[in-house]
Amino acid sequence: CSPISDSRLTMEPSKEFVFNYKGFYFAVHTTPERVASLENFEIKDSDIFIATYPKSGHRNGTEQIENLDRIPWVEYNFQNMDVASLPTPRVFATHLPYYLTPRDLRNKKGRVIYVARNPKDVLVSYFHFSKFMRTLEKIPDFNIFMERFLAGKGWYNHANDFNILFLTYEEMKKDLRSAVLKICNFIGKQLSEEEIESVVRQATFENMQKDPRANYENMPDDIMVKGKGKFLRKGTVGDWKNMMTVAQSERFDEVLKEKMQTLPIKFTWDMD
Ligand code: A3P
Repeated sequence: CSPISDSRLTMEPSKEFVFNYKGFYFAVHTTPERVASLENFEIKDSDIFIATYPKSGHRNGTEQIENLDRIPWVEYNFQNMDVASLPTPRVFATHLPYYLTPRDLRNKKGRVIYVARNPKDVLVSYFHFSKFMRTLEKIPDFNIFMERFLAGKGWYNHANDFNILFLTYEEMKKDLRSAVLKICNFIGKQLSEEEIESVVRQATFENMQKDPRANYENMPDDIMVKGKGKFLRKGTVGDWKNMMTVAQSERFDEVLKEKMQTLPIKFTWDMD
């Protein structure tokens, strides 16, 4: 995950597929040694990290190569890649909590694009996601799932450590073009009008949902149960209203209010 979090909530997953490192769960596709070594991971000035809490929505699929090759996870190395020699600018994805991110990154070397999303929509998206991810515990009762989600750890207030662009899922849904322009500006990339149009077109939910790469359809079977759901499920703002009862929503607000009280900013979803 990332430097600022909507609230860092750690689901407890299925033990067979995960290990805990310093209070954070990782799938067994990485090792404690690899995670520990990330502290000293050498960052280049041109590096870009896309950091999110899982299910906050973060990728586009513009090239004819697999997502895992194009934007490798920093905490996992599914493809056994030599990341040191990837062409620049390197783009990584991460769900690391801020305290496990590379030291260089916390000293403003490289750039971080952080995407936050209404945590209630994250919860609902996560609930559906857990049904087909082997690394996540199956909890069929939504109420119990929600309590597990809420019991996770919250952390915030680290944005100033990073060279960071903070975006929300909601603003991207509302005005994708502006978000693309903000990203271009942040990474110092000049695009022509046609290129901007093309990025925006390809990053819409409708176009990405059709893309097998955006849905990680080639992900190994030992991570994902095929045919039980898609990464790009619904792609809307406020789907939580179709899932959560009034009582669940109020309970969620209560816990969140407490977890978020030290955060100096207000999100649009807090003002609903
Ligand atoms: P839903 O389950 O609410 O549909 P991640 O990419 O981190 O796994 O997050 C997945 C969530 O982001 C899913 O939410 C998915 O539909 C949404 N998402 C991913 N790409 C999107 C896009 N281009 N436009 C809108 N939503 C997107």
